[in-house]
Amino acid sequence: MKVLFVTSESRPFVASGGLADVAGSLPQALRKRVVGARVILPMHDAIAPELRENMKFITNIVVPVAWRRQYCGLFEAKHNGVVYYFLDNQYYFKRGAKLYGHYDDGERFAFFARAVLEILPHLPDFVPDILHCNDWHCALVPVYHTTHYGKLPFYQHMRTLFTIHNIEYQGKYDMAILGDVFGLCPQHASLVEHNGGINLMKGGIECAHAVNTVSESYAREILTPEYGHGLEDILAQRQFKLTGILNGIDVQGQNPADDPHITANFTADDLTGKAACKAALQAEFGLDAEPRVPLIGIVSRLAAHKGMAYIQGCMEQLLQESDAQLVVLGTGEYEYENYFRYLAEKFSTRVGFCCDFKPALSRQIYAGSDLFLMPSQSEPCGLSQMIALRYGAIPVVRETGGLRDSITDSGNGNGNGFTFADCSAEALLITLRRALQGYADEKGWQVLVRRAMACDFSWGKSAGAYIKLYKSLL
Ligand code: GLC
Repeated sequence: MKVLFVTSESRPFVASGGLADVAGSLPQALRKRVVGARVILPMHDAIAPELRENMKFITNIVVPVAWRRQYCGLFEAKHNGVVYYFLDNQYYFKRGAKLYGHYDDGERFAFFARAVLEILPHLPDFVPDILHCNDWHCALVPVYHTTHYGKLPFYQHMRTLFTIHNIEYQGKYDMAILGDVFGLCPQHASLVEHNGGINLMKGGIECAHAVNTVSESYAREILTPEYGHGLEDILAQRQFKLTGILNGIDVQGQNPADDPHITANFTADDLTGKAACKAALQAEFGLDAEPRVPLIGIVSRLAAHKGMAYIQGCMEQLLQESDAQLVVLGTGEYEYENYFRYLAEKFSTRVGFCCDFKPALSRQIYAGSDLFLMPSQSEPCGLSQMIALRYGAIPVVRETGGLRDSITDSGNGNGNGFTFADCSAEALLITLRRALQGYADEKGWQVLVRRAMACDFSWGKSAGAYIKLYKSLL
């Protein structure tokens, strides 16, 4: 079985979110289970020059984008044993650091989808059985497979899987560009039409042979108006082909025992290094050097759906009534950036805020924190809570999506974190109080930290679930 993983981003080449982590680790896990897996993505401008050095030019072709005829170069690189293909067209993808949000994103990803399908006969010795397409950027691959390619002998046996990493971003366009940009004729309009416009994600859901999302809970949640972002009815109609598979994380690349980014390495058996990481983190942010004060970490996009409003509604209260410290890393909505600036100024020796995106610093926060706060309103899967567990920072999360499927409350003496269900600052405050109480019991806390660090979120189980899903399609 051969799988081509179609994505707009993948680590280590180019990343804007969790999708890149999945694309950077799932194919490797599949290969370990003797499934041929390769990855294809656009040659984004943001790919660093040193990563381009090892790319090999394979060929170039001409790709139709409606009436246009566009150049497409094919490059190849190997990383961790996985072959990556890059589709090159500078007109569409030489756009600086910004991957999305350009005026012509519809056309850019129409090109990408057509180019993926057109290039397949030119891939040296690799004919995929499964086209595993991710998020709205790749949703046109199943659509074009249905409308343009599926009946051709070369493509007939191929099956498409569409994975939703976040249903909020759908790729919506005006119906007027159906033919001119997407090259679809009026009788195919219904495949992509939603509420009078073009909705690429809807097209992916409609046309793919199977659809999945990145946790079982999220697969259920998106059937409701609260989480479905308008696509709940479409998903309900297509529920027969919708499943949920929880993501894994790259446990080799994210291991406190040998992580070069942290002050001292540690394991569940010997947590001395973790104490050193905590001290270093306090020093880094200019906080009081207090080894026995609970340190709460946040590494997040500062956006409403990440639950920032709940934090805003209770953090000052918590800081007033306890001796807890807080360290925040992230950028996002102006309101929340300002809020954390305010907290850091008001509690200057107890709150630190770094308004940036810094992967190395994020590791130091996972390693140095006692608690990891992630009270998302919605969370398709979430990877940070799994990384936090691995580094012995106990997650405090809302019971939604992948958070619900990976974190269980430790209230009953089992569990690996602290959880709450209500969408409110009060519920979060009560939960944080419980967590701080837990922290006060030094022996009990050590047990909890060890249990958290022993949780296994490697790709093993999830890769197995994907293989089963692929097989069911063939
Ligand atoms: C998106 C989701 C996140 C998920 C990631 C990888 O970024 O918001 O919850 O973990 O995709 O699937």
